[in-house]
Amino acid sequence: NRSSGKQGYAIAAALERCGAEVTLVSGPTALPAPAGVTRVQVGTADEMLAACHSALPVQVAIMTAAVADWRPAEAAPEKLKDKATRTAIELVANPDILAELSEAGPDRPKLVIGFAAETENLVDHARAKLTKKGCDWIVANDVGGTGVMGGDANTVTVLDAGGEDAWPTLSKDEVAERLVERIAVTLG
Ligand code: C5P
Repeated sequence: NRSSGKQGYAIAAALERCGAEVTLVSGPTALPAPAGVTRVQVGTADEMLAACHSALPVQVAIMTAAVADWRPAEAAPEKLKDKATRTAIELVANPDILAELSEAGPDRPKLVIGFAAETENLVDHARAKLTKKGCDWIVANDVGGTGVMGGDANTVTVLDAGGEDAWPTLSKDEVAERLVERIAVTLG
């Protein structure tokens, strides 16, 4: 999809500015690494999962990446020659990185935060995702209109077990600042 990585990079930069030690696990993007942040670049969901596990233990994990749910079962080492007869590509499920990091265990971060891009029934779908993935908060954004993907503004609702906070439309930097503030308050 057209996810740019801007929101995740803005959050990494905002955390670093408030004094956190930050590891930014990033899929392919042209964005420069924010100053003071350790960036680990990955190309696949399996690599992203491994890099996230290697970054543990951490106090907070924030998962903004738009990971593909599926990948081709086989990657061809050479150019495919039978394209005239090929009608389908077999897919297998990618690991759900957010759900795996949310699993209780000695290394589970105190706060696991997921994102949910939805096109309709924002809050209902995001609340279902909170339960299904086992994370602590979901930051839900409505991507039904144009402009969020790749743009600089974002309109989000933050959900947790206690309720939901609908924030006004803000820049992605402002969403990042506000999220970091909420994290700092929650962790005392
Ligand atoms: O794609 P979906 O709406 O399910 O994504 C919700 C959350 O789950 C996001 O925080 C995303 O980063 C995460 N996710 C993941 N691994 C996947 C798919 C999504 O960590 N394979």
